[in-house]
Amino acid sequence: MSIKVTWFGHSAFALEVGGRSVVIDPFLSGNPLAPVTHDQLSAEIILLSHGHGDHLGDTVALAQRTGATVVSNVEIVSWLRGKGVDNAAGQNLGGAADYEFVTVKLTPALHSSSLPDGTYGGLASGFIITERATGLRLYFAGDTALFSDMQLIGDEGIDVAFLPIGDYFTMGTEDALKAIRYIRPRYVVPMHYNTFPPIVQDVSGWANRVANETGALPIILDPGGSYWINADNEV
Ligand code: NI
Ligand code: MN
Repeated sequence: MSIKVTWFGHSAFALEVGGRSVVIDPFLSGNPLAPVTHDQLSAEIILLSHGHGDHLGDTVALAQRTGATVVSNVEIVSWLRGKGVDNAAGQNLGGAADYEFVTVKLTPALHSSSLPDGTYGGLASGFIITERATGLRLYFAGDTALFSDMQLIGDEGIDVAFLPIGDYFTMGTEDALKAIRYIRPRYVVPMHYNTFPPIVQDVSGWANRVANETGALPIILDPGGSYWINADNEV
């Protein structure tokens, strides 16, 4: 069993989990790095970390076309229902729920959140995503500053951590290295960089530091690129 991770630039990902599809923060329209449009994606579950436009993205159109379950917080789910997205689950921080093939737990993120029309978006979140069949566990940090309680997330045994490195709106490369030491993942996938001028980063320089200074293996994806995570492969 394995999880295929595909990056669409920014914090937009597709996960293929035992043949089932999860899409995270589907910002494709208006994303200069996006190699696909939302009407090319399949989705059974859409995870939405917070209400900002560069994460909400094409959530409404993708959810309406696919019928996917949108997992977010109660405030955002209430807003989505008003946009005609009925299949949505409004969890809140610290809460986990099973969705057939994955368990999704909302984690704190140190960030703001509002919807594009100014509606309050509740608290920004990240996600711990566990493949129920294998126990493979991913931590998608969302938009966040560094916080030391990432150690508690690390205590849950994280195989892959998805961390923002762009700086300016989220933590940058130095703090992401500290985050890796807290989380102790086998693999780390950088995100939320190079989309716009304020968040341009030297990702290969950062990846060298990850490899030399932490116990994690960096996975650098090109937009549209994929990587397979196996439950039993060793780093
Ligand atoms: Ni944001
Ligand atoms: Mn963002």
